[in-house]
Amino acid sequence: MEFVVKSGAAEKQKTACLILGVHKKTLPPSATALDSLTEGYLTDLLKRDDLDFKPGHSLMLLHSRHAPVERLLLLAMGENDKPLTEAGFNKLRVNLASQLKSLNAREASIAIEDINVEGKSLHWITRQLVEAVEYAFYQFSQFKNDTGKGAVLKKLTLLADRKNAEEVKAGLAQGQAIGNGRNVARTLGNLPGNICHPTYLADEAKALAKQHAKLTTKVLNEKQMSDLGMSSLLSVSAGSEQEARLICMEFKNGKRGAKPLVLLGKGITFDTGGISLKPGAAMDEMKFDMCGAASVFGVMNAIIELDLPINVIGMVAAAENMPSGKATRPGDIVTSMSGKTIEILNTDAEGRLVLCDALTYAERYKPEAVIDIATLTGACVVALGHHTTGLLSNNEPLAEELLSAAKEAMDRAWQLPMGEEYTRQLDSNFADMANIGGPAAGTITAACFLAKFAEAYPWAHLDIAGTAWQSGKEKGATGRPVPMLVQYLLNKI
Ligand code: BES
Ligand code: MN
Ligand code: ZN
Repeated sequence: MEFVVKSGAAEKQKTACLILGVHKKTLPPSATALDSLTEGYLTDLLKRDDLDFKPGHSLMLLHSRHAPVERLLLLAMGENDKPLTEAGFNKLRVNLASQLKSLNAREASIAIEDINVEGKSLHWITRQLVEAVEYAFYQFSQFKNDTGKGAVLKKLTLLADRKNAEEVKAGLAQGQAIGNGRNVARTLGNLPGNICHPTYLADEAKALAKQHAKLTTKVLNEKQMSDLGMSSLLSVSAGSEQEARLICMEFKNGKRGAKPLVLLGKGITFDTGGISLKPGAAMDEMKFDMCGAASVFGVMNAIIELDLPINVIGMVAAAENMPSGKATRPGDIVTSMSGKTIEILNTDAEGRLVLCDALTYAERYKPEAVIDIATLTGACVVALGHHTTGLLSNNEPLAEELLSAAKEAMDRAWQLPMGEEYTRQLDSNFADMANIGGPAAGTITAACFLAKFAEAYPWAHLDIAGTAWQSGKEKGATGRPVPMLVQYLLNKI
């Protein structure tokens, strides 16, 4: 989508579709101006109660008297002229995006200053609207011969007073970078396991570095990982024809010598469960088991686009979890790079096995903090459903920073507790720890496992098992938690 910021009165715009917010009691400024120009067209109309004023509703008018606009789209903003709540605004932007998708016009214009949200700046409102539009216009059709009729709209003009133009432009830039980054993550997530394997991800990371001078990509192959003693990570790829990769994208755009932030994504390009084979139903969705990795790619894209002055390492632990004669057996014991030994009681708890060696490897960056992002546990879906990402951390200030970034980005997260009572569930009779902690508190024991390898730095873990993709008719990757993570990085500058 092309976006432009333009100053000028809404009612004077020559546009195929003018979009205005309206309240029942009083019209906001742009609507008032249009109303007087059209001799009370809007007030007449609104009196007739054709529009439900609850946010999320809208009314498309196909022509308007006396104004140079072909269509008018009225967005409901509530009965009285109070600012919208965040939830109301969210409904409004989702409705707006879907109206724009079905609009039969190449361009439209929105009077963005008339949309007020409780405690939120015009910058924030612009950014969130732009993100919603980028999200809605995303298509994944590369494997379809018949791609259907796509959206017609190509350009959206954001109308704002000259004095606010800079603020709107800044919000627009962030919205586009986050929206694009999120869509990058969605495409990687949606790609099937036969195409998007560990080497494919490594090649994507190398290609990204080729395009951008500030990014360097380093990739470790299995031989190099074996030399480093990463037997835990390699135990996951042992049954696969696809070699594992540890990918490090180094973005150096901050102060020289400033400690980097490390983002580490779980990149299981397909998770069959291994010898602890998963049941067949919906197993195709385990191609999404690399959505943590995909979100790291999305964030790297966004921070490159925004040219953020920070140092960030985007790491991806990529492997395919397959059963075969060479696959790891339940009961096998491996020695991780840290020297700690692990009894693998269930080969389907493989995410933690690849992440633990990557967490040890991350120590060499002397990071300010490490955040891993992983579709780690089905238990997280049980606990938080599909709306909220699970957050666990060994460092309270870091957890707070992430929670507030999540709130600001409207990309929800909720913190779960940790502690040694839970860690004890991982005790093994034969090794330093087992890789599963029994049926109770599965998300927490998975995080406790990871925490044993993250003692050298502040660390947080995002369990995105419930939020990374949608099932059913709308099946597809969501690109979460790219907005939360980019917000966290924005808050660092
Ligand atoms: N990738 C799965 C987690 C998952 C399952 C995410 C379903 C989203 C939907 C992970 O590798 C896994 O299999 N975890 C096991 C852990 C168990 C064996 C302790 C799980 O959650 O069942
Ligand atoms: Mn698994
Ligand atoms: Zn998995």
